[in-house]
Amino acid sequence: MAATVPDGYVAVADESTLREEGRTVASADGTPVVVFHHEGEFRAVNNRCPHMGFPLSEGSVDEGVLTCEWHHARFELSCGDTFDPWADDVESYPVEVVDGTVYVDPDPQRDEPPAVHWAERLEDGLEQNLRLVLAKSAIGLLRADVNPVEPFETATVFGTKYREGGWSSGLTILTALMNRLPDLDEADRERALYQGLVQVASDCADQPPKFDQEAFEATDVPFSRLKAWFRENVEVRDADGAERVLRTAVAADCTPEQLTEMLTAAATDHRYLDTGHRFDHLNKATEALDHVGWDHPETADVLASLVRGLATAERSEELSSWRQPDDLAGRSAESFERLDEMVAEGEGKSWTEPDDFTDRLHSEEPEAVYEALDDAIRGGATVEELARAVAFAAGKRVAQFSTANEFNDWNTVHHTFTYANAVHRAAQRAPTTELYRGVYDAATNVYLDRFLNTPPAPEPSVDESADPDEELQELLHCFEMEGEVNAAGTHAANFLDAGGDPERLKAELGGALLREDTGFHTFQALEAGLRQFDLRDDPDERRVLATAVARYLAAHYPTRREREQTYSIASRLHRGERIHEESGAEGAADD
Ligand code: FES
Repeated sequence: MAATVPDGYVAVADESTLREEGRTVASADGTPVVVFHHEGEFRAVNNRCPHMGFPLSEGSVDEGVLTCEWHHARFELSCGDTFDPWADDVESYPVEVVDGTVYVDPDPQRDEPPAVHWAERLEDGLEQNLRLVLAKSAIGLLRADVNPVEPFETATVFGTKYREGGWSSGLTILTALMNRLPDLDEADRERALYQGLVQVASDCADQPPKFDQEAFEATDVPFSRLKAWFRENVEVRDADGAERVLRTAVAADCTPEQLTEMLTAAATDHRYLDTGHRFDHLNKATEALDHVGWDHPETADVLASLVRGLATAERSEELSSWRQPDDLAGRSAESFERLDEMVAEGEGKSWTEPDDFTDRLHSEEPEAVYEALDDAIRGGATVEELARAVAFAAGKRVAQFSTANEFNDWNTVHHTFTYANAVHRAAQRAPTTELYRGVYDAATNVYLDRFLNTPPAPEPSVDESADPDEELQELLHCFEMEGEVNAAGTHAANFLDAGGDPERLKAELGGALLREDTGFHTFQALEAGLRQFDLRDDPDERRVLATAVARYLAAHYPTRREREQTYSIASRLHRGERIHEESGAEGAADD
């Protein structure tokens, strides 16, 4: 009886010719396949190298190993698994020989759906800091309709476990981008996830892992005592002791508000820790838990990753700028001592921000700033309301940053703004009296930054007759050139003046950022700026914040755009494009 060809198999070669020639290339129902005759067996794999798409038919086969000709990735020929994780496994296909013809099944039942495959590759990419693998994973996962929260969760857990120093810029960037994902169009969501993943992997590369402290066995310690213990341990810079207390609080099912309260109290017991970074990290860790759920099994790990930073941070009252020529730390402390009394005075009152409040916060005299804050609290300003007002004053410093300053001073106004935004977010979550101290710290920095608005950058003139499309094009054009800071601010403002859609502006600002080799601060600036923008209805305030973001981005663009090139390669590979034909096969293996 004649043998039959199994269902789904496609003829790809004459058996005797293949035995003689050793390899052949075929299209099996549209799948590019290379079939080898090696050591007496027929083996079929996808002809596109999973690394960067070079034809594997050009590769060499020796003792069961297929080696790609381009960057020399090696594959176990019978199953397609790679020796080189940066390249990924190549798909292999079952082969049958029937009546002198070689058949291949180009669509066999796979054990592993794409979502599972890319989730595993994501872990490889994080562990080995492989940028191209991370780009492919982000694209593969999102195009397999995986919820972005899943890879975000993987990276968050990874980043908190595999970095002894704890929460840092990588996880902050990842969370900031996760927050802004709804602003972005589909392709830019892939870019955002990829950029965040790259930062986490890079942060953890070559770092020792974090070894955990354990929670106390006691589960009935009152929250007020846990909070006091936590602050005392951070005060004496005992990170291990503080971590045990924090883990005990999580194990005792303290609420997200209570956990935030513990952390923010310790983070504001001293002034402006590490130029505000510690509070910003704290805020981002709580936002990360908003995404994955506060009941996540790794909640204690995520929060514990903050502790070392809090305990070891530089305390700004130790800096001369907070002591001389005016004792700003001392003056703040005077208000802190009166906080309970001022809050009591304001109880039952409702505070409306005075028209000149931003000007008072921008005063040349520190006492005027502190009086403005004291008056507001006595007048009933909640910590959230006051934090919001100070965040705007800080954002206005960025909008008015003079380009005559040294370039690095962008960081100074940026730090204040990001810190103020983080304090405002914490005030929404856990509005404690202690947190007013964070608001005073932000306002102190707004005061200290005054010389960076001397003279202030000109406010963009209003142009309601502008064409929003043209303004947007001009804005993006500014990002292609160096030094177009004021022009970028003007185009962003005029886009809004002319009735341009704010959602479109946000998407374009986000998209532009994701095409650059953006640094930590620029990610933060965009996120803080757009968050404060979203919170406001007042068109004048929105205009100031959009101006601030556009100016900050323009000051830092263009960059080399290396990360975008990697994303572009990964995206084209995913679409099946033939990258090697353009590049002349001169490429480098993944980093
Ligand atoms: S190793 Fe095959 S394309 Fe790079």
